[in-house]
Amino acid sequence: MSGKTTFTMIKPDAVKAGNIGNILQMINAAGYQIIALKLTKLSPEKAGQFYAIHKDRPFYQELVEFMSSGPIVAAILKKSNAVEDFRKLIGSTNPADAAEGTIRALYASSIGENAIHGSDSDENAQIEAAFHFAQTQIFE
Ligand code: CDP
Ligand code: MG
Repeated sequence: MSGKTTFTMIKPDAVKAGNIGNILQMINAAGYQIIALKLTKLSPEKAGQFYAIHKDRPFYQELVEFMSSGPIVAAILKKSNAVEDFRKLIGSTNPADAAEGTIRALYASSIGENAIHGSDSDENAQIEAAFHFAQTQIFE
């Protein structure tokens, strides 16, 4: 069992499709408390910074364009074993491989436009939460 915090973004495809409510409902039903939440939009520069770890991958440019193409919802989530359990809730990166009932199986349309982000480690959860909510007072 590790940390209590993870970070998520509902991506532009899922916001456009009207799935904010459905996805937040699934997050709450899985036992997560939402401790910070905002509708925002990433500039290409900010999206590039957020995904800088992928800057040498062939999909980077497309990813930056997609993630800055429309509004997103950013949130900090709290629960025991937050990171690992959330990765299970969202499912595999490619929705074709995502387990039945996962958020990506339900709402993602392709490996690129895959509805939702989830942090991959406790350390990255802290970095990503600070990236979006550095100036925000958090109520827990
Ligand atoms: O989001 P996740 O941690 O599951 O995957 P990632 O390997 O960290 O990749 C980050 C994001 O890049 C994915 O969620 C996709 O939106 C995108 N991606 C892509 O467009 N094509 C790939 N072959 C792999 C990832
Ligand atoms: Mg990742």
